[in-house]
Amino acid sequence: MRQRSKDGKPGKKITKSALKEALKLYAYIRPYQGRFLIGLLFLLLSSGANLLFPKLLGDLVDAVSDDNYREAIADVGKLLLIVLGAQAIFSFFRIILFVQVTEKALAGLRQATYRHLIQLPMAFFNKRRVGELNSRISADISLLQETFTTTLAEFLRQMLIIIGGITLLAVTSWKLTLFMLAILPPVIILTVFFGKFIRRYAKTVQEKVADSQVIVEETLQGIFNVKSFVSESFEILRYRDRTDEAAQAGIKGGLYRAAFASFVVFGLFGALVAVIWRGSTMIATGELQTGQLFAFIIYSGFIGGSIGGLADVYSRIQKAVGAAESLLGIFDESPEPLNLDDENNERLNGDIEVKSLRFSYPSRPDVTVLKDINFTANKGDRIAIVGTSGGGKSTLVSLLLQLYRNYEGDILFDQKEAREHHLKTIRANIGVVPQEVLLFGGSIKENILYGNPNASEDEVMDAAKRAYAHDFIMSFPEGYDTLVGERGVQLSGGQRQRIAIARMMLKNPSILLLDEATSALDSESESMVQKALEELMQGRTSIVIAHRLSTIRNADQILVVQGGEVVESGSHAQLMEESDGVYKEYVSMQKMGHETNI
Ligand SMILES: Nc1ncnc2c1ncn2[C@@H]1O[C@H](COP(=O)(O)OP(=O)(O)OP(=O)(O)O)[C@@H](O)[C@H]1O
Ligand SMILES: [Mg+2]
Repeated sequence: MRQRSKDGKPGKKITKSALKEALKLYAYIRPYQGRFLIGLLFLLLSSGANLLFPKLLGDLVDAVSDDNYREAIADVGKLLLIVLGAQAIFSFFRIILFVQVTEKALAGLRQATYRHLIQLPMAFFNKRRVGELNSRISADISLLQETFTTTLAEFLRQMLIIIGGITLLAVTSWKLTLFMLAILPPVIILTVFFGKFIRRYAKTVQEKVADSQVIVEETLQGIFNVKSFVSESFEILRYRDRTDEAAQAGIKGGLYRAAFASFVVFGLFGALVAVIWRGSTMIATGELQTGQLFAFIIYSGFIGGSIGGLADVYSRIQKAVGAAESLLGIFDESPEPLNLDDENNERLNGDIEVKSLRFSYPSRPDVTVLKDINFTANKGDRIAIVGTSGGGKSTLVSLLLQLYRNYEGDILFDQKEAREHHLKTIRANIGVVPQEVLLFGGSIKENILYGNPNASEDEVMDAAKRAYAHDFIMSFPEGYDTLVGERGVQLSGGQRQRIAIARMMLKNPSILLLDEATSALDSESESMVQKALEELMQGRTSIVIAHRLSTIRNADQILVVQGGEVVESGSHAQLMEESDGVYKEYVSMQKMGHETNI
């Protein structure tokens, strides 16, 4: 299991492989490499200017002892102002460049992720939750954004200051530098770890307090139980124990905090005192100048700050590497061979032949959902599929759509196996009208246009008319521009279906897959949907998962699917001839008004 920190991001060690994954992100920065490098240069320059600052302050102090001290002070002062100005300019451009590179690189990453994600096969989406995927695209990328704009710069700046600062110090006085390095960094590192420990301990104290609070909540909510069991004294004791525990923990936490405060005062400031003490001795012996010691102390402060800050920056980088790894993990999944850029629009005739089809869902390989399905449909045929719930009807539809392609047996479209066709050709030639129609947020017109974005206004209206949707659309004040979906009007189930049918008219597929609504529409809406479907099915091969007897009666062929097999097939008349037929039983049950799946 993955270790998770409090904000839910994986907080694990940066492993070599994770780092290698994260470095792949560089591919998105590469197009803006030039700007990125200039940004880095500015970062280098601004850190350099930052490093000059203490040195110049020291010079300023030493200028006091110069014979011509007025001029000397003014010289150093002017230089200081120039350095500050330069640093301001460098920082300004560094931030602008980094933000530009990051924004563009991350937009590229977002687009690539989405492009990849949306082309992944159905099996991928079955094993992930939408929320999880959503968070990858939004949260992980935001984390990376922070990393690229600030954290990374921070890290580099701190490293530069530590290395540059120590080098400068060593040049001034290697003796004092060694002395400082022996004392200050260990104290700072101890402080960081001590501080972390205290924060963690404070959390356990809070948890203990929360534990005791649970008792109050539970017993007050269940006061009836407490009273009826006369368990007041038991609860009083229980609460006393918990609150005492919390108090004990709190007191211990106070002890740690007190020790920490003393440690900071004595350790951190003591270390500083030690350095100054040593430095003063060196001034006395003439090994060091006052200004140099002054600069030395400021450098030590810079270096100390950077060492202290590194821990925080490291943990942020750690999180970013985790985010990069989980995000880039999506790219390890292979997409469907959709060839989105391929312009070819092959039209299928609509002949379908299914031979010895056998299938298990990838997520449940041990359950064979379809065992042995065989049927043939010629162009323009109507096939009705009936059967018990869970028999595999929807699965068959998914396979015809090639949502899963690891089936055994053959699905032939126009006498050619589906997997040898272009995937795009098959999906473009099949129209699906599902049980529950989901419209996109947008206008009615946009929703109909989804069937064919190039259709003209007249074509949209014509499709709506043929789908018996025009009249109700025109009854809205805004007509075709009426917004539907979350922020728009609520359409009835029958109205939504007719819009879906109009959309299909525009798509004009040669094969239709219909999943008839099980929830009954009112009879007027029902008959309009029925008429619209009749119109839509004209001249197309249709496979209908049927629940209405009327649809089934009119079918050229009825397939009774049970337990993943076609147990009976034929026309209504043929199947009614079978004595003891499953279909015959269905029909008689429905006639008797029983709840069935037909
Ligand atoms: N994504 C999936 N992953 C794993 N198993 C699935 C998946 N979808 C369906 N199944 C299983 O496959 C079997 C057939 O399901 P399917 O949805 O095809 O039945 P159905 O005939 O359409 O039923 P209904 O009439 O209730 O819609 C069921 O046992 C179901 O649990
Ligand atoms: Mg189903």
